[in-house]
Amino acid sequence: MMELIRKRLAEPGGWLRLAVVATVPAALGAAFVFAAGWLSPGRLTPATFMHTFLVTSGAQPGFRRNHAKGVCVTGWFDGNVETASFSRAALFTSMRSPVVGRFALAGGMPYQDDTPGTVRSLALRIMPAHGGEWRMGINDIPVFPAPDAATFNALLLASWPDSRTGKPDPTRMAAFLVQHPETKRALALISSRRLTSGFADDTYNSLDSFTFVNAQGIATPVRWAMVPEQKDHPPAPQEKGPDYLFNDLITAIGQGALHWHLIVTLGNPGDPTADPALPWSGPHRQLDAGTLTLTAAQSEDGGPCTGITYDPLVLPDGIAPSDDPIPAARSAVYSRSFTLRSGEIKPASAITPADVNPGAQ
Ligand code: HEM
Repeated sequence: MMELIRKRLAEPGGWLRLAVVATVPAALGAAFVFAAGWLSPGRLTPATFMHTFLVTSGAQPGFRRNHAKGVCVTGWFDGNVETASFSRAALFTSMRSPVVGRFALAGGMPYQDDTPGTVRSLALRIMPAHGGEWRMGINDIPVFPAPDAATFNALLLASWPDSRTGKPDPTRMAAFLVQHPETKRALALISSRRLTSGFADDTYNSLDSFTFVNAQGIATPVRWAMVPEQKDHPPAPQEKGPDYLFNDLITAIGQGALHWHLIVTLGNPGDPTADPALPWSGPHRQLDAGTLTLTAAQSEDGGPCTGITYDPLVLPDGIAPSDDPIPAARSAVYSRSFTLRSGEIKPASAITPADVNPGAQ
């Protein structure tokens, strides 16, 4: 063997051939090491967020790494055909589309107590009969507290409650806010929002910007909100128990269908699409793009939303991403969260099947 190698190297161009043969695997190896992040341990990856949620919420096997406490809901979406002049998405023109959704509280703690001020969310998977599925996760705050994924990661770490006091360390948080005035501004808007009594009378916002594209290929920047038909009430003045938001939702949906309108805001030239921490201010044209009807709730334990990750980049033809950097980060992080939780043994959720349907037990 050694004799053969010596002979080959002695041939004209032998050393060059050896260099090429050695370089290709070396380059592939280097690319692997780079992609795995081993050359840049500070690089932000889905694994970084998994670690951050582990540090801030503890190990919660089987649960979503964020928005961990939730319930599934089902119903349908009726699109408004007038929206078709802005988006060619089938769900605006097709017949009623079935929906599997999930109401949740922000944070990685699946057994946290419900409080009036905890960020509430609604996630939806809208499935038109002939394809063109749309998934979204929307929150009841007016802006996102960070313009990009790195700042959000740093904010989660800075606002992580001190184990002795149960509250964020004010010095750590103050230092973070000095470095991030954009988060300070966003948190001021978030903390001055008007709170409602529960999930059913709340408005949920896309925060991220997307693009509607119509049949002629004309693109319009958009943000949207699900605005309730249910009359809103202020939060209850008295303490109502650790799961009161979910119990109230289950009671309300048991008494009759709940409805929201998909209100789409069309962007004006100059609106900040790349930064979900900035509001779109001033007058805007809005469309009532359809009605969401929710008719039933189910526990996540065995419920239809548990196997779904509400990846904001699952978009139908006619709705596209914008230059907002966060949805791509969300997509990668949600996928990692889904992979991890799908492989873990999950204890019972805070809201069990018996809580949702006591009569059936
Ligand atoms: C870099 C920024 C963000 C990170 C790292 C992040 C992280 C996560 C993770 C890990 C999950 C659990 C996913 C799963 O296991 O299926 C989640 C859920 C969720 N996120 Fe985010 N998120 C980010 C930004 C946002 C933004 C801008 C919104 C806008 C409204 C949002 C809304 C939601 C909602 C509604 C859910 C719950 C979905 C459900 O009920 O399954 N997130 N997030």
